[in-house]
Amino acid sequence: NASGAKAGKTRNIVEKMEEQGKNCIIFYGSQTGTAEDYASRLAKEGKSRFGLETMVADLEEYDFDNLDTIPDDKVVFFVLATYGEGEPTDNAVDFYEFITNEDVNFTEGNEPALGNLSYVTFGLGNNTYEHYNSMVRNVDKALQKLGAHRIGDAGEGDDGAGTMEEDFLAWKEPMWKALAEKMGLEEREAVYEPVFSIVERESLTKESPEVYLGEPNKMHLDGTAKGPFNAHNPYIAPIAQSYELFSVKDRNCLHMDIDISASNLNYQTGDHIAVWPTNPGEEVDRFMNVLGLSEKRHTVVSVKAVEPTAKVPFPTPTTYDTIVRYHMEICAPVSRQFLAQLAAFAPDAEAKAEMTKLGAEKDYFQEKISVHHLNIARVLDIVGKGQKWTNIPFSAFIEGVTKLQPRYYSISSSSLEQPKKISITAVVESTQLPGRDDPFRGVATNYLLALKQKQNGDPEPCPFGLSYEITGPRNKYDGIHVPVHVRHSNFKLPSDPSKPIICIGPGTGVAPMRGFIRERVQQAKNGEKVGKTLLFFGCRKSTEDFMYKNEWEEAKEILGDNFELITAFSREGPKKVYVQHRLKERAEEINQLLEQKAYFYVCGDAANMAREVNTVLGQIISEQRGVPEAKAEEIVKNMRSSNQYQEDVWS
Ligand code: FAD
Ligand code: 2AM
Repeated sequence: NASGAKAGKTRNIVEKMEEQGKNCIIFYGSQTGTAEDYASRLAKEGKSRFGLETMVADLEEYDFDNLDTIPDDKVVFFVLATYGEGEPTDNAVDFYEFITNEDVNFTEGNEPALGNLSYVTFGLGNNTYEHYNSMVRNVDKALQKLGAHRIGDAGEGDDGAGTMEEDFLAWKEPMWKALAEKMGLEEREAVYEPVFSIVERESLTKESPEVYLGEPNKMHLDGTAKGPFNAHNPYIAPIAQSYELFSVKDRNCLHMDIDISASNLNYQTGDHIAVWPTNPGEEVDRFMNVLGLSEKRHTVVSVKAVEPTAKVPFPTPTTYDTIVRYHMEICAPVSRQFLAQLAAFAPDAEAKAEMTKLGAEKDYFQEKISVHHLNIARVLDIVGKGQKWTNIPFSAFIEGVTKLQPRYYSISSSSLEQPKKISITAVVESTQLPGRDDPFRGVATNYLLALKQKQNGDPEPCPFGLSYEITGPRNKYDGIHVPVHVRHSNFKLPSDPSKPIICIGPGTGVAPMRGFIRERVQQAKNGEKVGKTLLFFGCRKSTEDFMYKNEWEEAKEILGDNFELITAFSREGPKKVYVQHRLKERAEEINQLLEQKAYFYVCGDAANMAREVNTVLGQIISEQRGVPEAKAEEIVKNMRSSNQYQEDVWS
């Protein structure tokens, strides 16, 4: 397979290591950029602290049938995220299939096939999902089985508990010790060496045609963008319409229809759409200001990797403004390690001491930074007491701040009804936190809100009151556009529409259920026999956040008694009422439907709701069928493995 191959690039990792003089390769399997980030950080640390010749590698870009020929004085790291229901990330699918294949066979004879291979593993997972860190666990098991030698513990980070970063920091110290011992490495005083060189291009201005101003790649720069549109190449789509779904002033939930008719994109009901956001002007300004880059924001720069195996994470030549606005996750949480690294560039001794302390003391960092959701520019502003941090090489940010990531949304339309229009249902992230005078705001959802406000000419200003770049780079796209791509999912209706379905979708968890129900309505209109369709929907109050109320009434008109909406309004009575309480009230009917092979769907909050629904379903089966709870749990598990029970959850 050559999915990641580019012309002239080798897929042979051993060859590549030799060619580049490397003795440590750090592979990553990453979906949202964190694993990739950790891989880069490990590469940097391995080089600066231990003199390892490190390189970072995307699993998708190499073949693995020669892992057995990696010499034993080299080491291979696997930094692997688990995605969704225990799946590998998109770029790790082929590697995972290869390494866990029972028939994988490198050498003839009795020698352990990978007896020469030394490796290190760290997994990124989320304990609210059933298959916690299954990717790294299974890869580790497979490598052990093949006779490879793990150095240090198989590390695991838990996003569900919110301890990913701390788990990573705690894991890596003993790992480095073990690795240094194994490879006979001496630790040295780490010295910062920039990975990227930034050359200011005086001969170019931001009007020069070869300068990237937010275009994701060359085709977009040339105005010849065409498919396939995917995670490397979004489609910059017009927005057909958008409107508000809540009836309260202080919270927003957007419905947005994205027009894909002029593209070759397609989707199926139940898929996900990825939205590529833009950072808000206010945060871009803050970042530029604290680094003393405001005057130079439109200066054209070329960025090159000093280290030949490193990749510049955006196209150049470009401007500082573009890099920060379109390519860096500048609003995201900061890591302690990054602050410790920046201490060396502090504007005065006091700021340096404070950065060092924040980097070293977990609880202090938690109290001063994490609870207020401060991003990097806010931290520098506060710690430097308004001084500019002009000593930090810009490369440190390209290395230390994650690449701006697309956000996924469960498509809330039916491809049968509207194949060329994709609907999104997104609640706008805005939280007032103690100790901050402005609310913490999510990047993508506030960007979408700003697009909606601009398109509709809403009277209220954009939430940041500042300059979202709304119409896209260089105004190539008339009107309101948003870059998107589609990710296919396994969350699917039964192929036979006469099968009953039970949908549990509180809050924005209703998104794919809307797609399902609209699909069933369309099927009925087409003369097909549609089975029983139950929708359990929960929100705070019937008068505030009861989304798509009118649409359910329309569905009822078409599907009749075969459709029923069961609501749980959690803040209307003296006690919380949730969807799982309603489910329990209908125990007998639910059990009967399941016995008729009804499909059971859950979407929304992974941390609590989805788990509690799973538990309640076990209780229902236990009571109704008179079987012990353990047996009922097994039945639920089997329903999951046969796809009768499907989840589309996030946290
Ligand atoms: P972000 O800026 O990404 O912030 C998100 C969270 O990250 C914050 O709440 C906070 O906890 C943390 N965070 C960010 N910055 C900081 C900081 N500086 N300090 C500390 N913490 C911070 N959402 C929907 O509304 N509808 C859907 O249909 C939907 N479907 C999804 C389907 C899938 C498969 C997945 C994975 C997610 C889905 N989501 C959905 C969630 C969605 O992808 C986004 O995560 C959500 O909209 C928030 O994005 P944002 O960019 O606005 O927030
Ligand atoms: P609450 O905010 O009043 O607690 C959509 O967010 C709906 O899901 C809201 O009514 C919310 O109620 C509810 N919800 C919160 N926690 C839940 C849980 N653990 N299980 C089911 N629903 C929950």
